Amino acid sequence: MCGIVGYVGKRPIVNTLLNGLKRLEYRGYDSAGIAILKESQIKVIKRTGKVDALREAVDKVSFSQNENELSIGIAHTRWATHGAPTEKNAHPHLDEKGNFALVHNGIIENYASLKEHLIGKGHKFVSETDTEVIVHLISELYEGDFLKAVAASLKQLSGTYGIAVISKAHPDTIIAARKGSPIIIGVGNDEMIVASDVSALISYTRKVIYLDDGDIAVLRAEEVDIRNIDIIPVTRELAHIDWDANAAEKGGYEHFMIKEIFEQPEAITNGTRGRLNFEDGSSVLSGLGYSSRELASISNVIIAACGTSYNAGLVGEYYFEDIADLPTEVAQAAEFRYRNPIIRPDTLVLAISQSGETADTLAAVREGKNKGAVVAGICNIVGSTIARETGVGVYLHAGPEIGVASTKAFTCQVIVLLMMALKLGRAKRFSRQRGIEIIEEIIKTPDIVREVLKRAKDIQKIAKKYAKAENAFYIGRGYLYPVALEGALKLKEISYIHAEGYHAAELKHGPIALLEERVPVIALANDIPGKDKMISNIQECKARKSPIIATATEGDTEIASMVNDVIWIPKCSQFIAPIPTVVALQLFSYYVAKERGCSIDQPRNLAKSVTVE
Ligand code: F6R
Repeated sequence: MCGIVGYVGKRPIVNTLLNGLKRLEYRGYDSAGIAILKESQIKVIKRTGKVDALREAVDKVSFSQNENELSIGIAHTRWATHGAPTEKNAHPHLDEKGNFALVHNGIIENYASLKEHLIGKGHKFVSETDTEVIVHLISELYEGDFLKAVAASLKQLSGTYGIAVISKAHPDTIIAARKGSPIIIGVGNDEMIVASDVSALISYTRKVIYLDDGDIAVLRAEEVDIRNIDIIPVTRELAHIDWDANAAEKGGYEHFMIKEIFEQPEAITNGTRGRLNFEDGSSVLSGLGYSSRELASISNVIIAACGTSYNAGLVGEYYFEDIADLPTEVAQAAEFRYRNPIIRPDTLVLAISQSGETADTLAAVREGKNKGAVVAGICNIVGSTIARETGVGVYLHAGPEIGVASTKAFTCQVIVLLMMALKLGRAKRFSRQRGIEIIEEIIKTPDIVREVLKRAKDIQKIAKKYAKAENAFYIGRGYLYPVALEGALKLKEISYIHAEGYHAAELKHGPIALLEERVPVIALANDIPGKDKMISNIQECKARKSPIIATATEGDTEIASMVNDVIWIPKCSQFIAPIPTVVALQLFSYYVAKERGCSIDQPRNLAKSVTVE
């Protein structure tokens, strides 16, 4: 995820900015850059790859600084969203006269129309980013008042931003602003540091101000002046950070995994932003690049993926069949090229991969291409090998996932698959009205997930009770069958408890032989189609003395009365139910693993990206 650092004060500017960027490295990024304002010139240096490569490049340039001289600059680590990870696309971006430099986190949804407008006014763009329009807009609207130009520009943006800007004409000032993307101001003694994350500023000061959405901060070494978008002064409290640097990287959470579990409402919002079209009851997935006519001619879908991404693909199978009327198969990517899959020119081979680097999924992409299929990808990492080789597809915009166990990638993959099925369905027989109903549900999903997160303490209590188990079964039906598989995968990978996910009806075809009082069964019994039959399956497990933990729809006393423990899930349709339910199971696994003292972010034997067959 992108990271911002800016500084005004008397410290050595290069080191201050680069040390700040170093502290943001854990967030994941693909390029980095700095802009330093000195002697009425803005000097920008950018590099793809690591901050160390940027440091090497900066070391070659002399940035002499006298003691007690005021220094000012901004810096950025970029995690590509619009445009490949190249030097040109890296931040800071300059306007064409080199009067302003800007760094930005977030996504500007209306950048294409703004860019067209600015090109009409003679502006020349050098990058493919959405960010570059902001700095051109500021220069276009600048009439001598820096703050006014920034505020007027921000008013024209739709989307999200956290920004820091410097101006040649105002060599003592950084302007920072926030809407939907965090900006924090570190208040020092005659120095100010601005960052997107406390970890970048914690070694300089522990006094911070968190900007609210809509705030614009004017920073000078000795003062910070905060305004709203109409330039009216607002007051924000000074807070004190007492985390250590290590905890700061994790936003105060104990592990990346739990941080990422809690980030899911925001990740889903980011993944759906600008992609829902109420008017047509459809979705806007421009990266797919196919016309409605081409989409309508797809005859079947083969999803190829591994692990958690495979489980998300299984939810996708239900979506494609129910919404897009498309025969769908979910293939183990590892096996795909060793079988003889029936691929026709109108078969869509859809590769799902968080990292975009999984060797087996990549091999499936190549096999699909060789056989002449329509190939598309669903990836989180922009510019990853699978994203490049498929050429078309949909990015998750989930932000980097650092914990080895995949959490927010799964929920974002599911929501992207739902939007994709909607697009394919609307190109065929799915009605506009039903499309609108699904969009309304997608919009509510982040809040539904928040409700589950509020119950983390209840889930922790249940997890403590079962943390000593050595075997467990997860059972589900319909849309919750893939969630049973994912729940079991999460538990085994981080807690090392042997866990199996089964279709609830399959249990009696063999595995039921293993049930006894020491083997808990996690039954996904939400009130969606399949619940009635699940009740019988729960009874079957109870008869074998297994304790039952159920996920159930809020207020479902029938389920509550027949099981040992309940994890409540807000009411939602079968289309959305996999998402809050998996979040509850992620929390359950996390707290079980914590209770067992496991290495949660780096479980034994596992790697975040599996680049070997
Ligand atoms: C489980 C997990 C793995 C990955 C799998 C595929 O928590 O993270 O099962 O899902 O290795 O990885 P990607 O999605 O990067 O292709």
